[in-house]
Order: sequence, then structure tokens, then C-alpha cells
Amino acid sequence: MKIGIFDSGLGGLIIAKAIKKAMPEYDYVYLGDTKRVPYGNRSHEAVFEFTKEAMNYLFKKENCGIIIIACNTASARALRRIQQEYLVEYNNTRHLMGEPERNILGVLVPTAEECAKYGRVGVLGTLGTISSNTFPSEIKKLNSKTIVFQNPAPMLVPLAEAGEKIMAKPFLQKYLKPFMNKKLEAVALGCTHYPFFKTEIKKMLPKSIKLISQDEIVPKKFKDYLVRHGDIEKRLAKKGTIKILLTDITPNITKLSQKWFGKTKPELIRL
Ligand code: DGL
Repeated sequence: MKIGIFDSGLGGLIIAKAIKKAMPEYDYVYLGDTKRVPYGNRSHEAVFEFTKEAMNYLFKKENCGIIIIACNTASARALRRIQQEYLVEYNNTRHLMGEPERNILGVLVPTAEECAKYGRVGVLGTLGTISSNTFPSEIKKLNSKTIVFQNPAPMLVPLAEAGEKIMAKPFLQKYLKPFMNKKLEAVALGCTHYPFFKTEIKKMLPKSIKLISQDEIVPKKFKDYLVRHGDIEKRLAKKGTIKILLTDITPNITKLSQKWFGKTKPELIRL
């Protein structure tokens, strides 16, 4: 069985690359819904439906034993319902056929665990992630004393996809400004695309503020998860393969995929 990594588009490749680097022995399938990206401004229902279709594809067509939803918007707006409705039913049906249980994880809880170590935290994310309030509620569950400040940063996804670090500077300043006088101890990047601006963001924030970036924390947390879930780990294929599946491909998409992940050629699929 393989490890599936799902994102609304290409941003999740930054996390996929970090996961593969930390655990190169496993077989990975990355699925990016490039035809329907961005999810950030869509309704709960649309994000749920799209995410469910991707989960179905990764389980049925790619035989994934476990899927990481790298997309923060999907983790915030759809993951709980996917786990409670879709996954439970999927596992119940497959159980009758003698198949082992599969699992779906998100990136929000591991990020919240990191945020909960601090007293005052800022979170940047898409409109969908921020308006869902999932980050503050997950962080508060772990540490009720942590004060969370959130700010949506909608322009950063198109700017990252256009590879625009210089043009992004005024937007980064605008999105970070509300955090500046809040005596923050940490700022979390709650979106797949934002690690692309990590160096620029670090330069803009006071040195005392810790930057929480998912490409640094998710691989470690996932490794721990596999250690704790030996039953899942032992079923995972270990040939070190990777496949990148996208729902739309253009020369520009291929270029960005290779820039963010490496030379693996993306394959076109239909969900
Ligand atoms: N993958 C999304 C996220 O992490 C960003 C892109 C989008 O809006 O779909 O929130």
C-alpha cells in the first residue's frame, strides 16, 4: 500500500518533498486538483465533495493505505466530516471484504500542537481556513491559555504560483502588520503555499518570533505517527517510488511542479 498526499493544487508538493526527504523508503502518490484550485474561497460543501472524490481515487485506484491531506483549507473545512462520514463507511464496507483499515490525516492538528506550545500565536491562512476558525479551536483544545490571532492572506497563493517573491513583499508586509504589535511568540503558516515565502517572512518578523512552517513539522509528526501505528506502517510498500497525479496539466503547471518537487513528470488523471 502507498502513502497518498492530497492538495487542492501544487503547493502541497513543498510538503510532499519534505516528507519524501525525511522518509525516502516509502511509495508515494501525490494528487493535486489543479483543475479546481483554489479551494480557499469555496464553500464547505464544495471542499467536502472535491476532497471526497480525491480520497476515493487514492484509495481505490492507487491503493493508498494512508492519506495525508496537505491542504489546510480541506483539513479545516472537510477533514472531520470526511473522517466521520466517508472514512467510517469506507472502512466498514472494506472490512466485510477482509481488507485492512485505512486512514486519513490532516495538517492542521500537527500545526496546532506546535502552536499550543506558545502563549501568543499568529496564524496566516486562506479565507476558507481562517473563517472556519479551526486553527484557534484546535489550538485551544490543546492549550486553553494560548491566545490566537488570525489573518487571511488570499494573495499569497497566486503570487507563490507565479513564483513572485519580489511582488509579494508589499502583500507580506500588509498581512504581517496586524501581528506586529501583538507581542507574539510564534507565527504559523497555515497554507501549503506559504513556505515558498519563508525566507522573506522570517526577515520581516522580529527575530524573537518563531516561524512555524508545515514543511518542517509535518514530516516529523508523520514519522512519529508511523512509529506509533506499526500495523499501518508494516503494510506500506517500501520501494521508494513517487507518482504525481494532477487533474489539469499545462506547460506552466509542469514547470511549477518540477520547480517545487523535482523532475518527476506529472500525469493527468480524471477524478
Ligand atoms: N492548498 C490550499 C491550502 O493549503 C491553498 C490553495 C487553495 O486555496 O486551494 O489552504
